Amino acid sequence: MHLSFSLLVGALLLLLTYLVFSQQFAISSPNVVTTDVELSNKASLGETGRGRSDKVVACSTEGPYGDTCELDGDVRVNGTALSVSFVPSTGSRSHRRRRVRAWRIVSYARRNVTDAKVVTVTQQLTDHAAAAAPPPCTVNHTAPAVLFALGGYTGNYWHDFTDVLVPLFVASRRYAGDVVLLVARYNPWWLAKYATLLRRLSSHDVVDLDADDAQQIRCFSHLTVGLDMHREFNIVPEQVPGGQRLTMADFTAFLRDAYALPRAALPMEPPEKRKKKEKPRLLLVHRGRYRRIVNEEEVLRAAEKAGRRADAVVFLAAPGAVLVQVGAVREAVDAMARREFGEPAAAMGLQYLEYSVAAEESTLLEMLGPDHPVIRDPDPCTEAGGTRTSR
Ligand SMILES: *[C@@H]1O[C@H](CO)[C@@H](O)[C@H](O)[C@H]1NC(C)=O
Ligand SMILES: *[C@@H]1O[C@H](CO)[C@@H](O)[C@H](O)[C@H]1NC(C)=O
Ligand SMILES: *[C@@H]1O[C@H](CO)[C@@H](O)[C@H](O)[C@H]1NC(C)=O
Repeated sequence: MHLSFSLLVGALLLLLTYLVFSQQFAISSPNVVTTDVELSNKASLGETGRGRSDKVVACSTEGPYGDTCELDGDVRVNGTALSVSFVPSTGSRSHRRRRVRAWRIVSYARRNVTDAKVVTVTQQLTDHAAAAAPPPCTVNHTAPAVLFALGGYTGNYWHDFTDVLVPLFVASRRYAGDVVLLVARYNPWWLAKYATLLRRLSSHDVVDLDADDAQQIRCFSHLTVGLDMHREFNIVPEQVPGGQRLTMADFTAFLRDAYALPRAALPMEPPEKRKKKEKPRLLLVHRGRYRRIVNEEEVLRAAEKAGRRADAVVFLAAPGAVLVQVGAVREAVDAMARREFGEPAAAMGLQYLEYSVAAEESTLLEMLGPDHPVIRDPDPCTEAGGTRTSR
């Protein structure tokens, strides 16, 4: 990845040596390269309008987690190189000198995952005649597309949602299904697991970019590169592209709809008005290995006694439901738990309660003994504490 970026920089430099007499070479941010005679002061944002009804590139490499580009115009994707070229239109305002701009866009929603695939987006700002000939299209797609990568932390439920499904929902919902999903680090197992959701987002077959041969060039008139995770497992409505306001409530409605879960609200009255026989339901999430509730039987009996009906149901908590997050070992995971589960739960219309397990209530005490740092100082901010408490 890094190699191809260096190659690109090298190629651009070479180009400049031939074409430009007095050039400046500006790297305005580690991820944006602008080769230009006049420095663009908007380079890091990369917002470039070229006349009305003309083509637009808007790239951001400054998001809290990941990078994205929105490309509107003549967009050509080389799946083998993972490169995207943005081609100037004929008859657009001509520039006397060659201008090229390039972005490195990490196609996974967290730019710092070690296996991240980098997509190189280049924009020729020169007029058609002077620009290098664009690679010819082998497929002309009429629908817009979203290009992203799997890999990273996918395979973990929480990451599947926060790193891929929620940001993909944000990126593609505006197209009402008429959007092509271009996937790098294609994983058939993962895609099959979420096929029901992906089918709802895109009525087209998912494209395996890894399988494209070197001559395959896919052309689009609109492309989103990368997934923008606004917040972990959350949506910032103001940042949703395409002028549509989406929230986590829309995401849960989408899930409910996709999986045909009919109930959109709790059928019962608030506690004070509730009739006696309407028992609230308790869903206990049983985890196999880590973070197990070892006295589950007792918890169930206590719940029944308190008038809860313990249930095994296909379940998506409805607005008004209460999510109780159990944090292992005192305050250790509370800040993280709140950000990763509490805030999203509230955004979905659930009530959130947290319960922090005291050291004496945890099997960790038996396992590690009272003097172990995890028991004595379970601070997730220290590297050791963080790694250990995350297990
Ligand atoms: C696509 O990229 C590959 C790898 O860099 C390159 O070999 C191939 O020529 C490119 N295809 C076209 C049509 O430019
Ligand atoms: C990756 O980014 C996340 C969120 O920005 C951060 O919490 C984490 O420490 C980073 N990991 C590495 C290895 O840099
Ligand atoms: C794609 O569209 C371009 C421009 O309209 C056309 O020149 C080209 O032949 C088309 N390619 C294919 C494979 O249909």
